[in-house]
Amino acid sequence: MMFSSRRALLQCFTVSLITCISSASTFFNPFNVTYDHRAIIIDGNRRMLISAGIHYPRATPQMWPDLIAKSKEGGADVIQTYVFWSEHEPVRGQYNFEGKNDLVKFVKLVGSYGLYLHLRIGPYVCAEWNFGGFPVWLRDIPGIEFRTDNAPFKEEMQRFVKKIVDLMREEMLFSWQGGPIIMLQIENEYGNMESTYGQRGKEYVKWAARMALELDAGVPWVMCKQTDAPDPIIDACNGYYCDGYKPNSYNKPTLWTENWDGWYTTWGGRLPHRPAEDLAFAVARFFQRGGSFMNYYMYFGGTNFGRTSGGPFYITSYDYDAPIDEYGLLSEPKWGHLKDLHAAIKLCEPALVAADSPQYIRLGPKQEAHVYRVNVLSEGLNSSQYGSQSSCSAFLANIDEHRAASVSFFGQSYILPPWSVSILPDCRNTVFNTAKVGAQISIKTVDFALPLSPKLSVAQQSMIDSKISSISKSWMTVKEPIGIWGENNFTVQGILEHLNVTKDHTDYLWHMTRIYASENDISFWEENNVTPAIMIDSMRDVLRVFINGQLTGSVSGRWVKVVQPVKFVPGDNDLVLLSQTVGLQNYGAFLEKDGAGFRGQIKLTGFKNGDVDLSKLSWTYQVGLKGEFQKIYDIKENIKAEWTDLMPDVIPSTFTWYKTYFDAPDGLDPVALDLGSMGKGQAWVNGHHIGRYWTKVAPKEGCQTCDYRGAYHSDKCTTNCGKPTQIWYHVPRAWLQASNNLLVIFEETGGNPFEISVKIRSTQSVCAQISESHYPPLWKLSHSDFVDGKISVDDMAPEMQLRCEDGYIISSIEFASYGTPQGSCQAFSRGNCHAPNSLSVVSKTCVGRNSCSAGISNAIFGGDPCRGIVKTLAVEARCIPSSNIGFSQL
Ligand SMILES: *[C@@H]1O[C@H](CO)[C@@H](O)[C@H](O)[C@H]1NC(C)=O
Ligand SMILES: *[C@@H]1O[C@H](CO)[C@@H](O)[C@H](O)[C@H]1NC(C)=O
Ligand SMILES: *[C@@H]1O[C@H](CO)[C@@H](O)[C@H](O)[C@H]1NC(C)=O
Ligand SMILES: *[C@@H]1O[C@H](CO)[C@@H](O)[C@H](O)[C@H]1NC(C)=O
Repeated sequence: MMFSSRRALLQCFTVSLITCISSASTFFNPFNVTYDHRAIIIDGNRRMLISAGIHYPRATPQMWPDLIAKSKEGGADVIQTYVFWSEHEPVRGQYNFEGKNDLVKFVKLVGSYGLYLHLRIGPYVCAEWNFGGFPVWLRDIPGIEFRTDNAPFKEEMQRFVKKIVDLMREEMLFSWQGGPIIMLQIENEYGNMESTYGQRGKEYVKWAARMALELDAGVPWVMCKQTDAPDPIIDACNGYYCDGYKPNSYNKPTLWTENWDGWYTTWGGRLPHRPAEDLAFAVARFFQRGGSFMNYYMYFGGTNFGRTSGGPFYITSYDYDAPIDEYGLLSEPKWGHLKDLHAAIKLCEPALVAADSPQYIRLGPKQEAHVYRVNVLSEGLNSSQYGSQSSCSAFLANIDEHRAASVSFFGQSYILPPWSVSILPDCRNTVFNTAKVGAQISIKTVDFALPLSPKLSVAQQSMIDSKISSISKSWMTVKEPIGIWGENNFTVQGILEHLNVTKDHTDYLWHMTRIYASENDISFWEENNVTPAIMIDSMRDVLRVFINGQLTGSVSGRWVKVVQPVKFVPGDNDLVLLSQTVGLQNYGAFLEKDGAGFRGQIKLTGFKNGDVDLSKLSWTYQVGLKGEFQKIYDIKENIKAEWTDLMPDVIPSTFTWYKTYFDAPDGLDPVALDLGSMGKGQAWVNGHHIGRYWTKVAPKEGCQTCDYRGAYHSDKCTTNCGKPTQIWYHVPRAWLQASNNLLVIFEETGGNPFEISVKIRSTQSVCAQISESHYPPLWKLSHSDFVDGKISVDDMAPEMQLRCEDGYIISSIEFASYGTPQGSCQAFSRGNCHAPNSLSVVSKTCVGRNSCSAGISNAIFGGDPCRGIVKTLAVEARCIPSSNIGFSQL
């Protein structure tokens, strides 16, 4: 069953996804997938494939259709995802394929949109996911060593990989069954680790390849970053740039499994951004130099809900600066610029697949062309005819980071901006240059408030205000006991390994012991001006030290040394150490040995009779928080805790639970909790764990203005210096009801819950700036338009395109000038040349619509406002919800 429109699918989704999707037996006519040295071959045809990375558990199933639809509209042919073992088998032998872990539903949805799927089983996935996607119980299998020639590990890995392949086959999801799966992946970036494991690593790679192939899935497998991937498994490239990558055999195509279009960040880190111009450059260079499959990692990053973020210290948002933002809104101009790029590449596809390899032409010291055509020379054609051949496409690159270049190509001259690629689907007309962004820019409300336009009436304004919901003014609270709180405590001599005790069912492990300080000790400290201290050789991720119930110090870091001064009173003192994880290690060799908590010596210094070896003492342990154990975040269970009303004057307080009820904001816009007033902890809405929060501030320095030119790295183009890394936390609409939503917060370090607010995320303004000399709208062209040089791009006018998010319309044009406008979005101004009717022309075309386009030509603006000068149209438009404001009748 195929869905003809997205609307039909959405209706279907809301009515009953089960009946809609599961009645579908196939999505495609069955087809085989093979490959040759040039490309993946689908049903006998080489294809140039654009793939969009979306990890299903980083969104809710309710978000999936829109994400997939936006990927398809953006030009994706393929959706790529990892499979998350830790989510599917939380307890050994007990599987979970429900809710956001419903892999089968996700794959079927992808198929229902007519897209293919690349399933990366791993089952090690890294992915900035807790423990790299391994279930934590795996480390308790006797004798296990991960990702090497180790029988217990191989047995578990094989069992899970087989489980997934069998499930996909049973559900008829492979291409040869009419399903969307065209490709699989075994292991993940093992090439980075292999040498650490010596000969056993090499054996393991061979075993993993053989094991995967023996599952007989009937589609190609890839191994990424694996130069010794055994045939017929394809080795693939991951990185910021993969042009020039060559697979390990001539018979394999050049695949780019992870194009890092942004980056992740840590608590206290800056926010990374990869410029759209550089990203497009990297993609164009890849296809220019013979690449044939490219996946954006990520196209939608989403959210690390619950305790799924890896690390240590990766934040809850996994926005990744992806073309679709964490909330499912388009990130412009990235999404639109890539959409244009994909359209340009698709115009070249017939030539790209027809040629076995490109012809390289040096155009200058840092300028080069690659030409794709069918055996031109053997057909006896000469260069003056190249431009008129439909089966000729070319990429012209200027890899000079600083200067534009004028190059001559097949007798015509071309200006190439620095660090850019021009795409010529007919070897003559440029339809796209990676450094010239024609796509709109969208400005999202930074404070999540709706636009406050002076042009709105009081009634309209109050309608908007009512959407900015703040949490009710009434909060309840209950203290979390410090130290041992329940019957399930136990006492042993010595310090236990953190994960051995918690099994990662919680971040928290309490350790308590008793320290006797004699009068002699006290006077020794006073007389010698000595302060005793706790010394730990190595610790991760967070340690909190309590003496007699008082928080005395906190340390955080990954395997850092601890020297924490402490003060004792005469007699017995309760010493409590709270060890915490903030996302388990997800990258590196020997993950099974990494663990958490304390390592090496742990002692008390400064005592008169010498250091006290704390590892020789008797310790009482308690796993987790009492509130976690009681599930006081749960809708039903929370009433069992002894909540009391919270008075505004007693905050902030450490190790405290808070709860309140709140109404959902009206409408369908994505919802966020603003936790900027809080310290560190975790939050739940209606029992759904929305993730860890931490108001840790990024360094003041290091956010320079962004220049797209030159090689990208994750410290380039960062923002948010001097501000908390994350204050907004996505609460999926699917987890909310209209009113009475239970919000429970566990706060460790103290914060003000009265300032927590619920906000909505929306695109408030969209801007576009296009010149007369820009390229015409590619989506109006097809490859056949170029046959025999019928078309000249010069004959077509470029267009300005504006579009608000779904459910929004353009309420007003804030600025429009056809002429020589200056400035940038939200700061445009008129230049010397200005067509007086600019505003009225654009307003007439756009106001009241969700999207609009206007040609960039003198005719449209009532004549040439300044002869002989290249004119530009700059527009800024406001977007408002179509339903609330009453513009829908327009
Ligand atoms: C796919 O390949 C298999 C094995 O060569 C063949 O039996 C089958 O008919 C092919 N299916 C299609 C749809 O081409
Ligand atoms: C190229 O071929 C065309 C058609 O055969 C011919 O008219 C033209 O003179 C040739 N040009 C060159 C430079 O050889
Ligand atoms: C710790 O466990 C013991 C043995 O089960 C129990 O008697 C004691 O009450 C527990 N401590 C607390 C504070 O609950
Ligand atoms: C964790 O437990 C395992 C098995 O119970 C044991 O072999 C290992 O030594 C423990 N790790 C540490 C660091 O104590």
